[in-house]
Amino acid sequence: MPMRVLHICSEIYPLLKTGGLADVAGALPIAQGRLGCEARVLVPGFPRLREGILEQTLVAEFGPRFGAQAVRLYRGVLPGSDIVAYVIDAPDLYDRPGNPYADASNHAYPDNHQRFALLGWMGVRLAEGLDHAWRPQVLHSHDWHAALAPAYLKALEQSTGRRVAGSVQTIHNLAYQGNFPSHVFGYLDLPANFFDINGIEFHGQCSFLKAGLYFADKITTVSPTYAHEIQQPEQGCGLDGLLRARVRDLSGILNGVDDTVWNPATDTLLAAGYEARDLAGKLACRTALQREAGLAVQQDGPLFCIVSRLTEQKGLHLVLAALPEIVRRGGQMMVLGSGDAPLEAAFAAAAGAHPQSIAVRIGYDEQLSHRLIAGADVILVPSRFEPCGLTQLYGLKYGTLPLVRKVGGLADTVVDASLENIGDGVATGFVFESFDDTGIDAAVRRAFALYQRPGDWKAVQARGMGQRFDWDAAAAQYLTLYQQIGT
Ligand code: ADP
Ligand code: GLC
Repeated sequence: MPMRVLHICSEIYPLLKTGGLADVAGALPIAQGRLGCEARVLVPGFPRLREGILEQTLVAEFGPRFGAQAVRLYRGVLPGSDIVAYVIDAPDLYDRPGNPYADASNHAYPDNHQRFALLGWMGVRLAEGLDHAWRPQVLHSHDWHAALAPAYLKALEQSTGRRVAGSVQTIHNLAYQGNFPSHVFGYLDLPANFFDINGIEFHGQCSFLKAGLYFADKITTVSPTYAHEIQQPEQGCGLDGLLRARVRDLSGILNGVDDTVWNPATDTLLAAGYEARDLAGKLACRTALQREAGLAVQQDGPLFCIVSRLTEQKGLHLVLAALPEIVRRGGQMMVLGSGDAPLEAAFAAAAGAHPQSIAVRIGYDEQLSHRLIAGADVILVPSRFEPCGLTQLYGLKYGTLPLVRKVGGLADTVVDASLENIGDGVATGFVFESFDDTGIDAAVRRAFALYQRPGDWKAVQARGMGQRFDWDAAAAQYLTLYQQIGT
């Protein structure tokens, strides 16, 4: 019998994406399907999801719930795959334009506790058998938005003595916890004894993520190194004690890359396709990108790129510090990103000062991100912390050498082009350890040095392009977990 799993998440590629979570939610269920697993997804009815999910039929209707006057559950199909998606229609909670979590001035919505409590709650209704045609054996919650599902599951078990499904909580980013003032507990419809240190309570607040980490049968995160890091105070975000206590149930499963979306040989968004043994197309992509960005069309130095949320996590102030040296040495830089206003302004100012060498596009542009990653020589990911990171994996596949800090999933996926690693044929990029200007500067200098040795550069590029980061390995590891806990 195939294992039936319901992924509960708040964004999913290609319909709604603010970060890597959407890529994972879009790709993992498909890979699980190839393994013979029946994977479905449950998402909130944000406009793009309500509109984008195909062939929707009504599964159930509810009266007022979590501040919504009317709640309906529909079952449909995700475009571009045959993955079945359940979508919660609750216009009072979800029918808001733009970012799924915050308003136009980037303030978190004041009713987020209700918006995402409903998501976890609905997962448990499905586990109880709400859709007579299909009942999940495992609820797989992603990030804090879905993290009340394990709590509602436990509450049901406490009140009925019935265990209807197993639960997995995946941490994509421990820094986002969904913490709310204690008074919201009254709106969550959980048993009173759950507001406890052994439960949802976290320093006097309600923490959605903590509830998931406490109540789920299994906890995963998206790389082995991050699984270790979050057990230490430095990266534990206050939850390291709980994670250490649950170490037997905690594992790191590395994300993959969806080859149907990210593959330079078949990518229709590029000026030209290419593969490791013939990189002529990559040069065409590079020239096209320089023209599009208004950069000087030259090959004197490497073209660096960034495709990123512009936030504290990503360590981009280090790039700002390294920019003068990059320009001085004849390199170029193109940035695509949006986020913190001071970072946006600083990159825009740098581009204004050096228009031939630095180009910046503030915003979110999926198609441009492909042209950038294909056209650049180096992709920078100097993160303060990085649970997995996907853009360095895209860089590897596209022959664009990642320059990364040795942390989290970046440490697990990139091997530094030191002389000995080049000699051993294992180098795939540039890795630095100390999170400061000197650290990144040394890595940037290694990039320039390697660029002067085209033979070695090509060898490192070929090694990276030959790596396999497919979703099948991750899907198999998740299945092993499900088999331990599924009902
Ligand atoms: P995170 O989830 O922390 O943002 P990841 O590296 O896991 O980091 O995933 C980021 C995803 O979002 C990648 O698919 C990346 O290409 C994409 N992305 C980030 N910023 C932009 C942007 N401005 N335009 C297009 N895609 C972006
Ligand atoms: C988070 C992390 C990122 C990871 C992504 C997908 O957004 O910041 O490192 O790749 O989730 O798991």
